[in-house]
Amino acid sequence: MKKIPFRKILPVLLVLFILMQFYRIDKTNPPLVKEKDFLLNENAPPAIATMVQNACYDCHSHQTEYPWYTNVMPFSYWIKGHITHGREKLNFSTWTEYLADDKSHHLKECAEVVRETRMPMTTYLIPHPEARISKEERETLATWFESVRK
Ligand code: HEC
Repeated sequence: MKKIPFRKILPVLLVLFILMQFYRIDKTNPPLVKEKDFLLNENAPPAIATMVQNACYDCHSHQTEYPWYTNVMPFSYWIKGHITHGREKLNFSTWTEYLADDKSHHLKECAEVVRETRMPMTTYLIPHPEARISKEERETLATWFESVRK
C-alpha cells in the first residue's frame, strides 16, 4: 500500500478539528442548595474546606468552574465526561441526601483515594496548581475524612 504523506492528511485533520468545534458541552451547573453541602454540614475547618473546594469540587459538586480550554473539542468532551462520572460517584453538593451507610462508605473511599494519590486526577493537576496537595496535606485531609466518618 502506498503511504499517504502527512502533508496530505493535515488539511483533512484541520477541517475535522474545526467541524468538531461546533459541538458544545452543557456547562450549566445543576441548582445549588447550600443547606445540602458537604463542607457546611460536616463543619469543615477553613483550611480543609479550601483544600476540598480547590481539589475536588470541580468534578464532585454543582460548583464546577469551566476554564477557557473547556471550550475546545475534544478536551471539552473528555472533561465533561469526568464531571458527569465524578458527580455520579460522589456529589458533595447533595451530601445530605445520602443515607448514613453511603456517607460512611464515601468518606472511607475519600480517605483512601487521597492517601493513594488517586484523586485529584493527575491530568487535572497539570492546569490546576491550586489543587496540588503535598504528602502532609494529603494525610491531614485523609485523617479529617476519617474523623467525620466516626
Ligand atoms: C478532574 C475531575 C476530578 C477531580 C478533581 C476529583 N475527582 Fe474524584 N472522581 C472523578 C471521576 C471521573 C471518578 C470516577 C472514576 C472511576 O470510576 O474510575 C471519581 C471517583 C472518585 C471516588 C470514588 C472512587 C472509587 O474507587 O470509585 C472518590 C471517593 C473520589 N473520586 C474522591 C475525590 C476527592 C476526595 C477529590 C479531591 C481530593 C476528587 N475525587 C477529585 C473525577 C474527579
